[in-house]
Formats: sequence, structure tokens, C-alpha cells
Amino acid sequence: MNISGRWRVLCASHWSLANANVVCRQLGCGVAISTPRGPHLVEGNDQISTARFHCSGAEAFLWSCPVTVLGGPDCSHGNTASVICSGNQTQVLPQCNDSVSEPVGSAASEESAPYCSGEGPTGQKTLFITPSMGRQLRLVDGGGPCAGRVEIMDQDSWGTICDDSWDLDDARVVCRQLGCGEALNATRSAHFGAGSGPIWLDDLNCAGNESHVWNCPSQGWGKHDCRHKQDAGVICSEFLALRMVSEDQQCAGWLEVFYNGTWGSVCRSPMEDITVSMICRQLGCGNSGSLNSSVALREGSRPQWVDGIQCQKTDTSLWQCPSDPWNYTSCSPKEEVYISCAGDLLFLCLSQLCRMSLV
Ligand SMILES: *[C@@H]1O[C@H](CO)[C@@H](O)[C@H](O)[C@H]1NC(C)=O
Ligand SMILES: *[C@@H]1O[C@H](CO)[C@@H](O)[C@H](O)[C@H]1NC(C)=O
Ligand SMILES: *[C@@H]1O[C@H](CO)[C@@H](O)[C@H](O)[C@H]1NC(C)=O
Ligand SMILES: *[C@@H]1O[C@H](CO)[C@@H](O)[C@H](O)[C@H]1NC(C)=O
Ligand SMILES: *[C@@H]1O[C@H](CO)[C@@H](O)[C@H](O)[C@H]1NC(C)=O
Ligand SMILES: *[C@@H]1O[C@H](CO)[C@@H](O)[C@H](O)[C@H]1NC(C)=O
Ligand SMILES: *[C@@H]1O[C@H](CO)[C@@H](O)[C@H](O)[C@H]1NC(C)=O
Repeated sequence: MNISGRWRVLCASHWSLANANVVCRQLGCGVAISTPRGPHLVEGNDQISTARFHCSGAEAFLWSCPVTVLGGPDCSHGNTASVICSGNQTQVLPQCNDSVSEPVGSAASEESAPYCSGEGPTGQKTLFITPSMGRQLRLVDGGGPCAGRVEIMDQDSWGTICDDSWDLDDARVVCRQLGCGEALNATRSAHFGAGSGPIWLDDLNCAGNESHVWNCPSQGWGKHDCRHKQDAGVICSEFLALRMVSEDQQCAGWLEVFYNGTWGSVCRSPMEDITVSMICRQLGCGNSGSLNSSVALREGSRPQWVDGIQCQKTDTSLWQCPSDPWNYTSCSPKEEVYISCAGDLLFLCLSQLCRMSLV
């Protein structure tokens, strides 16, 4: 990917088939067949981008997908993202046996579900694209791309999954498919609100290693005895949130980030003005702030999740700022950051700005 005039390879951790699909479409190369693992040839000094994309698969460009950079892993040169595309095939050939791609009664874990293959006229392996290639997955109303109500797009409609026998193994497939890491919770009873439209799947029984959630055994596509108040949801380890912790102030306090299911602190070396401003803006606390180093050491213990955050002018949220990798002990407790933002939620609430920052 060309980032600021420089080509970089992408890291394979969190790389998904949905991301790969967007890449293939963007390049006019059909759909993604697979994302082979293993070492790939990379020029010695090529920089590796640790950006993690969370595409649903429908996006026209990779850079339209939600992206996280903060806390990205150190990526070794053997671990770069890759994809094999189908090539520009627009024909659906009749030899294709559609039933292979249907969850109904098929084997528990068909690896390359959206496609079936056979020998082409020239003896080459030919890929046939079945109707289910149009399916997409997303998480809704969870406050980010890696938590929320599970929704699947099929036949031009977004629908949901019923929570009968919904568990962590099912959630695991969803999180992996979205490049969102590990599954932390499989939520039931419309925890993230009730959806609308069809209920596509019920009694899902994933082993956990399937490549797509619709490959898991179930009642069958569209078969269910549920209502939307039973919509299933997930929280994945890559779900991120931000808050200030203080006894009496809303726009000053200890900065905390939610990662891997736990609130932890942020370390302050080095933290430039541009990063502090980004944080204050994201919290709806004005356009600037300062580090406050005259506060006493904080009580209690928690992870020190991240250090070395360096936002740049082009970043649009803290999640896009580069930093050191997530680490349970990124710094000592006395290096946890306390920020005082210039804005004040109460003051802002009296002005027009408040409404903008609260919606
Ligand atoms: C793919 O093939 C179709 C039909 O042959 C053609 O109309 C289209 O322009 C091709 N796309 C690319 C990117 O080559
Ligand atoms: C399609 O595959 C299913 C399951 O593998 C099989 O039962 C069926 O006979 C196949 N149909 C054709 C037309 O090959
Ligand atoms: C998933 O795991 C089971 C057993 O643990 C195995 O039999 C099956 O082949 C695996 N499926 C895939 C798609 O890796
Ligand atoms: C997620 O699971 C953990 C552990 O089971 C639990 O403590 C927590 O309350 C759950 N969170 C939600 C939002 O369900
Ligand atoms: C996230 O949590 C899981 C278990 O809860 C743990 O195994 C894993 O190491 C944690 N990851 C990080 C980066 O702390
Ligand atoms: C730093 O925080 C303390 C405790 O909240 C506060 O009394 C002090 O005014 C703050 N200093 C600055 C420069 O914001
Ligand atoms: C986490 O940080 C500690 C020092 O704070 C370091 O020794 C360790 O290697 C780091 N772990 C990872 C996975 O980067």
C-alpha cells in the first residue's frame, strides 16, 4: 500500500479474507480465493505497515475500511499479508455445485466456501463463483468495528443471527473473519439492540476454526424460530474505547484505553501536543490540552497498555496513530499519563459545539 508516497507491505496478523476480497476487487482481479500463510519475498528494507483493516468485504477500496494502527504488533518480515485473486471472471458456470457452499447439511468446515472448483477446458484449475460470494459480515451498534450485533448481508439484505446455542466458538469465527482478534464475549438477547430484516442463522454450532461464520452447521440458511430480541452479538479483543478517570472532572483525569477486554492506562513518553489534542478532541473535550505531571501517584493496579503514541496530522482518530505494540506492562505506574483538556464538557454543552460532540 502506498502510504504518504512510500510503498509498504502489510502485516499478516489480523489479515482477513474480507480484506483480501476488497484488494482483489480494487485491482480488477475478481474475488479473493485464499490468503496463503508463510514467508513471502520482501525487499530487505521495505517498511511493514502494522495497520489492521476490518473490511466487511463490500468496500470499493481498502482505505475505505475501518482501520486501526494504535498498538499494532511488531511485524516480522516473514509475516506479511498476501492474497490470491480469482482473476477477472464474471461468468458463473453451470458445472458449479452450489450445495457445497450452503451451510445446510454440508460438512462443518468447508474451507473455501464461497467457491467451487473444477477442471477448465484447458486443463487448468478453474474457479466458479457461486451466489454466496456476495455475503458480507459486520458488527453494528457496539461503538466500533470490533464489537456489536452480528449482521450478515445476503441477497441485498442485512440480517442477524439468533442467540439459540450462541457461544464463544461461534464468536471466535466472527472475530477472526473481521480481523478483530480473539473473541472475548458472545452476547445474547440483543445486548447491542435488536436488529431488523431477516434472521439468517439459528442454532449455530461452529467448531471455531471455520473461515466464514456461514459455513458453520446450523438449522439452515434463513431457518429459525426466533425474534430480533434474541439477536446475537460479540465483543472481540481488538475492540477499543477511550475514557478519562477522575473523581470530579469530566475533561481532566487519568487516560484509559479499553483493549483485550480490560481498561488500562496509557504511558506518557513521549506524548506531543498533537497527540494530546487528538485525545481531547476524541473525548469531546475541546481542541487542546496538556499533560499534568503534578498529580500524585495513582492507587491500584491495571495494565499499562500502550506507550510511544505519535499522532500525525493526517490521523483522524487516536486509533489511527502509530505507537509501540500493546503490552501489559508498557511502562511503570509512575509514567501513566494524566491529561487536562482545555475544553470543558459542561461549558461546551451550553454552546452549539456540544450537540455536535455528543451525537
Ligand atoms: C472483466 O471482464 C468483463 C467481461 O469480459 C469486462 O467487461 C471488464 O471490463 C473486465 N474488467 C477488467 C478490470 O478487466
Ligand atoms: C452436489 O454436492 C452434493 C453434496 O456434496 C451432492 O449430494 C450432490 O449430488 C451434488 N450435485 C451435483 C449435481 O453434482
Ligand atoms: C477444525 O478442527 C477439526 C477438529 O478440531 C478438524 O477436524 C477440522 O478439519 C478443522 N477444520 C478446518 C477448516 O480447519
Ligand atoms: C464479558 O464476559 C466477561 C467474562 O465472562 C464478563 O465479566 C463481562 O461482564 C461480559 N461483558 C459483557 C458486555 O457481556
Ligand atoms: C489478551 O487476553 C488473553 C486472555 O484473556 C491473553 O491470553 C492474551 O495474552 C492477552 N493479550 C495481550 C496483548 O495482553
Ligand atoms: C493538575 O491536576 C491537579 C489535580 O486534579 C490539579 O489540582 C491541577 O490544577 C492540575 N494542573 C494543571 C496545570 O492542570
Ligand atoms: C513488554 O514490555 C516489557 C518491558 O516493559 C518487555 O520486556 C517485553 O518484551 C514486552 N513484550 C512484548 C510482547 O513486546
